[in-house]
Amino acid sequence: MIPGLHREEKFCIDLIAGARPNFMKIAPIIHAIQSHNAEFVDRQIAPRLIHTGQHYDQNMSGSFFEQLNIPEPDLNLGAGSGSQAVQTGQIMTGYEQALIEKKPHLCLVVGDVNSTLACAIVAKKAGVLVAHVEAGIRSGDWSMPEEINRIVTDSITNFFFTTSELAGDNLLKAGHSSEQIFFVGNTMIDSLYANLEKLKMPAFFTDDLKNKPYLVLTLHRPANVDTPEKLKEIMVEILNAAQDTHIIFPMHPRTRKIFAQLNLQAPHLQIVDPLPYLEFMFVVRNSIGVVTDSGGITEETSVLNIPCMTIRDSTERPETITFGSNVLVRSTKEIGPLISKMICREWKQASSIPMWDGKTGRRIVDTLVDLYFQ
Ligand code: UD1
Repeated sequence: MIPGLHREEKFCIDLIAGARPNFMKIAPIIHAIQSHNAEFVDRQIAPRLIHTGQHYDQNMSGSFFEQLNIPEPDLNLGAGSGSQAVQTGQIMTGYEQALIEKKPHLCLVVGDVNSTLACAIVAKKAGVLVAHVEAGIRSGDWSMPEEINRIVTDSITNFFFTTSELAGDNLLKAGHSSEQIFFVGNTMIDSLYANLEKLKMPAFFTDDLKNKPYLVLTLHRPANVDTPEKLKEIMVEILNAAQDTHIIFPMHPRTRKIFAQLNLQAPHLQIVDPLPYLEFMFVVRNSIGVVTDSGGITEETSVLNIPCMTIRDSTERPETITFGSNVLVRSTKEIGPLISKMICREWKQASSIPMWDGKTGRRIVDTLVDLYFQ
């Protein structure tokens, strides 16, 4: 299964990043490759960074490259937006061409977005080994494109890098061998630890906000934001429960399209554009609580011990509930009482999550090097 390289050969890896949450996951791996190369001149890695272009705005992509110190991509496939099939197809076609031009030894994908799935399929069919970072997590909710992306990607992955023991168990149950599974922790948390001292106050953050308790809201899941009825139901519940507590809502472009139809305004609701990483984490870190439907944010709030509620029926990240500060909200009616608890500071305390220690990128690179070099 593993070809085995001689020390004089370079280990060529394609690193795939496409959508906003990918950038925080790939940055620590790039930095770990850079320090590995500086340290081991006889076991060099040659990364090729490929941006699929799934996210393309400065707000959703460019600022993350700058702030997380990610080098310019070697290739941008320019896939852009589209339906599930159109977007996935664009990425597949673009990456296939990239593989015709140069075939690496390994393709490394992260997370569960369409770029993850598309590039894993193309690599595997071209005879390139696939490594999946954040493998094995499962929500059991087949209505989410991310769940399908996870299952299909894992079904063709050669090396699984996992964030939890449970993710490894899911892979074993699916018939994968324990020799392919490496419990390494969470690269998103590497990025968080690496940047905690650099967090930046956003321009809109007035003196007034510095001294007052506020909540942060993010919503972008199709199930919550793609119909005006559902989005309105959620928003009304949140606004009523928060009473006069200020809410900062960095609004995802997907949500903005539908929100514009609601004609909803409230004096304590502050809508802002999607924030760069350092500004977003600043706002989260100084909040009294976060209401979200994101997966990654529940990991970050758990590590920061910030109260968090997730407006979803299920989670693929149960450790954010057992160890962390996250609570699932399965019905809109539960939102009100939980927001009251956040405002009264009556929330559970998070404890540390195994292996989420800021050193995952290095563990991934060390593992790959050991697997490849003879
Ligand atoms: C994608 C991921 C989701 C992830 C989320 C983070 C999939 C299936 N979904 O969802 O898992 O949590 O990213 O944001 O891969 N748009 C812009 N500018 C951009 C990118 C998108 O305006 O730079 C708009 C487009 O109008 C697009 C919409 O946002 O139609 C949705 O983008 P898309 O990548 O299709 O899905 P996300 O909802 O962002």
